Formats: sequence, structure tokens, C-alpha cells
Amino acid sequence: MKVSQRISAVPMSGIRKMFDLAGPDSINLGLGEPDLSPPQAAIDGMNRAASAGLNRYGPTAGIMELRDAVAERYSRYGKIGGGNVMITPSGSSALLEISETFVDPGDEVLVPSPGFVIYGPHAQLCGGKSVEYRLTDGDFQPDIDDILSKITPKTKMIVVTTPSNPTGGVLTEGSKKALLDIAEDKGIMILSDEVYDSFIYEGKHVSFLDRLDVAVVSGGFSKMMAVTGWRMGFLVADESVMPDLIKMQYHVCASPNMPAQYGILDALPGIEPYLENARKVYKARRDLITERINGIDGMSLEPPKGAFYAFPSYEQNIASADLANKLAQAGLICTPGSAFGKYGEKHLRFSYAASEDKISKGMDILAEVMAGLK
Ligand SMILES: Cc1ncc(COP(=O)(O)O)c(C=O)c1O
Repeated sequence: MKVSQRISAVPMSGIRKMFDLAGPDSINLGLGEPDLSPPQAAIDGMNRAASAGLNRYGPTAGIMELRDAVAERYSRYGKIGGGNVMITPSGSSALLEISETFVDPGDEVLVPSPGFVIYGPHAQLCGGKSVEYRLTDGDFQPDIDDILSKITPKTKMIVVTTPSNPTGGVLTEGSKKALLDIAEDKGIMILSDEVYDSFIYEGKHVSFLDRLDVAVVSGGFSKMMAVTGWRMGFLVADESVMPDLIKMQYHVCASPNMPAQYGILDALPGIEPYLENARKVYKARRDLITERINGIDGMSLEPPKGAFYAFPSYEQNIASADLANKLAQAGLICTPGSAFGKYGEKHLRFSYAASEDKISKGMDILAEVMAGLK
């Protein structure tokens, strides 16, 4: 059987490749998966729903109570009601459904580089073309001149991630305004991926939820509630496009997981103390990894402001894929910067959603390997 050209043209994720290299004793700072436990209310709520027989198909856009609860949580950013929210079977599916709904064959999608690995392939799977735009060094803001130079009559969408995977960068108000100016001037829509919005250590989250006239926002519960295995996400969009997004989701999954939605619903309204604790834990780890990396000759890292990734640059003359392989052989799994696009080279990504002990041991290995390169 011959698979389609679309799927054969799309590469496998570089993050998964490194994961496959992990031995049983490796320190794995490669995957962006919280090591905290989910809120107990979520687990109880899901179990209760399954025991009560809520195991059948549900509404395609998700249960109304959860759509309303998401709208309520995010209404501090803009005028959002349950009718603007669709619950999706993961943030990843929200992103693909948005691309499937808006991208036509031949359209160009501007994706951040370094950026999360699925935006480009999603554009390609829709018959579009992805074009990488550069993030500035250090603070990882969209390079507006680079974006402007890459806009063509075919540009349909600009993808933004804040806080960012892999960089940990957080969008500034200035960058948001510049992106909105472009969107308005050129008639280009914005897809804002805000799945890490709960994890900001300095400053505040800058959201596009107040601009649903030009933006669609995707979000998720995987990272927020440490339930990556539940596959629960959401998107927020203008009501005028919701019927098409819902039609798309019908063809993907008919309806999202019912018991999991009830679990999320039970936990969401009281989630803040859980998140406050998670931020405290991650911030301490961020401080530790930042200090350790900056203590290594040739490596440099501005403290990442959000998410749970450190994306240091290094001066040593070695490609990031080779360096990540060397580190894997020495027992430390991380992800080469090149896995996140052409502007990610000469960087490594470490996830600090791991214990301080693991981070310390991982940084010992990193320091030794880097010292051996000189
Ligand atoms: C930036 C970003 N967006 C979306 C996702 C998708 O998350 P999920 O599919 O688990 O909701 C991830 C997962 O790592 C991510 O890093």
C-alpha cells in the first residue's frame, strides 16, 4: 500500500526520536511532560462520571458546562462565552483542526523558529506551505522585520506560541501589538497557541483572547493539570467560525472524551491553589537549571519567563543533533535545537518538568560533556 504524498513528506518529530534513545538509567530532560500529580478533584470527577454511566458520545463541541467553565476562567482577557469555546481531544488536535478549518492548498503559514514541532507539518497536511520566521535571540520575541519580509499574497496565518515551547519566552505587549498591526494591515489571521498560559514566572501572560476578530486561540489541560494522557484541550474562536470548527471536529472524533471532561470540569473552578504550587515548584527548578547552565563555559541562558523549558545557546563548534547524541550516550536526554526549526541550531532544549535531583544530575553530565568538547 502506498501512503499519501502528504504524510510521507512530513518528518517524524525530533523530540520523539531522542526519547527513543533513552536508556533505563538516563536522565530524561527531553519530554515536556509535567511530573506533578493531577488535581485529585479531576481524578475523582472522571471516575465518578465513568461509574455514573457517562461513557457514551457527547456533544461534538464538548459538554456545555465545561465550555462555560473555560469561558469563565478566561473571561479576564476578553468577552468570551461558552459559545466561543470548543473542547478538543488535546491541544494538538485543536491545532490541527484550526489548520484544517482555515488553510487551503497553496496557502502559506508563518511558523515560529525555533518553535513547537507540529505547526509546520500541520500546514503541510492541509496542502499548505510552512515558512519559518525567526525569534530574536535571548528574549525570543517574533522578529517583526523577518515576518514582514516573508509575507506574500498567499500568507494566510501567523502562528504564535506564548509562553513558548521550546524557548520559555513570553510574548510582550509590544510584540502582540506589532503582530496585530500586521494581521489587520494584511488581512492575515493569527493562531495563538497558549497551552502554557498557567506557567508564567515573571510578568504576565499576554493573550490574543481579546482579539477573536483576527485570532483563534488554542489551549489545553495536559500541562495545566498534568494530565497529558487524558488528551483534553480546547480552542477559543469567534462565534462566526465556530460552526465550521465544530464540523471539523465532528469528522475527527465525533465528540471528546466524556468522563475526562467531567473530571476537568470538577477541577477547573478551584484550580488556582494547585497552579500556584506548580508555579512555585517549576520556578525553583528554573532557577536551578539557569544557574547551572550559565556556570558552564560557552553556554548562556536568559532565565526563561514561562512554560518549563530552558533553551540555552552554546558556542562550541558542534551541531546540536551531534551534541544531543553525545549527551544521550553520556546518559542525558535533551532535544537538539535543530528539531525546532532552522533558527534553533546551536541551542539545546531541556525540560525542567523533572525533580531538582534529576536536573542536578543532568547538569553534571552536561558540564562534563561540554568541558570535554574544548
Ligand atoms: C506549544 C505546545 N502546544 C501544544 C501542545 C500539545 O499539547 P497536548 O496535545 O498534550 O494538549 C504542546 C505539547 O507539548 C506544546 O508544547
